[in-house]
Amino acid sequence: MAVEAIMNVEAVRAQFPGLLEGAVMLDGAAGTLVPTPVIDAVSEALRFSMANVHGEFAGSRRSTETVDAARGAIADLVGGDPRGVVLGPNMTTLTFHLAGALSGDWGPGDEVVVTSLDHDANVRPWVLAAQRAGATVRWAEFDTGTGELAPETFDGLIGERTRLVAVTAASNAIGTKPDVRAITDRAHAAGALTYVDGVHATPHGPIDVSALGADFYACSSYKFFGPHTGAVIANPGQLDRLRPAKLAPAPDTVPDRFERGTPPFELLAGVTAAIDWIAGLTDSPGTRRERILAALEAVEKHGTALLAHALQGLTDVPGVRVLGAARRRTSTLSFVIDGRHPRDIARELAEQGIAVWAGDNYAYELMYRFGLRDSGGAVRASIVLYNDRNDVDRLLRAVAEIAGA
Ligand SMILES: Cc1ncc(COP(=O)(O)O)c(C=O)c1O
Repeated sequence: MAVEAIMNVEAVRAQFPGLLEGAVMLDGAAGTLVPTPVIDAVSEALRFSMANVHGEFAGSRRSTETVDAARGAIADLVGGDPRGVVLGPNMTTLTFHLAGALSGDWGPGDEVVVTSLDHDANVRPWVLAAQRAGATVRWAEFDTGTGELAPETFDGLIGERTRLVAVTAASNAIGTKPDVRAITDRAHAAGALTYVDGVHATPHGPIDVSALGADFYACSSYKFFGPHTGAVIANPGQLDRLRPAKLAPAPDTVPDRFERGTPPFELLAGVTAAIDWIAGLTDSPGTRRERILAALEAVEKHGTALLAHALQGLTDVPGVRVLGAARRRTSTLSFVIDGRHPRDIARELAEQGIAVWAGDNYAYELMYRFGLRDSGGAVRASIVLYNDRNDVDRLLRAVAEIAGA
């Protein structure tokens, strides 16, 4: 079935006021635009009293319901348990927080495994926690030729002293989607926990945290058409074993134990609205979870088709080099042009109304492995559900011009 038959891209685009300026928005990996129902949900939430949770009056009850609804929606989005949804300001803050809690009993001789494919937010919190504990960090290296992170790479790295394996579900720079399950199986066989960075993967296709074998799965709503807030989804039993630093009077129950201070209720209303909006992208019947899976399958097909068009077009431009060529990947790509600084390319594209990012995009180790950290990194174009073929064609024409082809 043609993707358009189940996800009408024109109708989708009409719901994003951010597209009205006419720019080609290929910066989804850095943060997606927000559709009108999400904007409305946030502003609607602010129209009424939203007191703190667990009080006796209507405004407080509304806040409690808003938090519960967001947990339920996030659980549906990734196939998790609402009782294990930890809400927080963003993935980075949550990961530092959880690294603090998880490393509490690490010591010399213990080991953690991180990867060079990951965004630094799933690297540095573990490296710093390991340093504090006197534990050892082991690096799983991706292949700079193929862009793949082979599960076999972990065979020599995971052992009986491994406490945690941190791996991304998808690279925010080159799109690679490693075989996470094959990696988490190896971690679990050695008795280690797994922390999966789902920030980039979540808006690009169906996610099932159990199928991934993720003990912890982190995501950020501003990457899936929602407001700026994040979440970590874990098994509640797993959370119950941890004692994070918290205020004495704050709840000691799970997942509240992990949440610091007053949450942004209006943004959480927006998170639920974003997930409901995703669920409504196709007219597929069923529960919200089933509709989300159908919608994200359509989104994935849409992205895959546009990515193939973009990759083909870029390959045809002399002097352009696309980084990595993983078999399973999201519709995000990075490229360089011989003799041109990525920042200059991004500026020239911006002058033509095309929004892309240049730099390392915090895929810090990855850019180093590609030998690009000191030359300005790469240009990144990220295709999401509101991009269409015209967006890709405009990018291709502009890149060809910049490359002098
Ligand atoms: C793959 C990936 N992981 C983690 C992060 C950090 O997320 P946050 O901004 O929510 O801290 C990002 C942000 O770009 C990302 O792309």
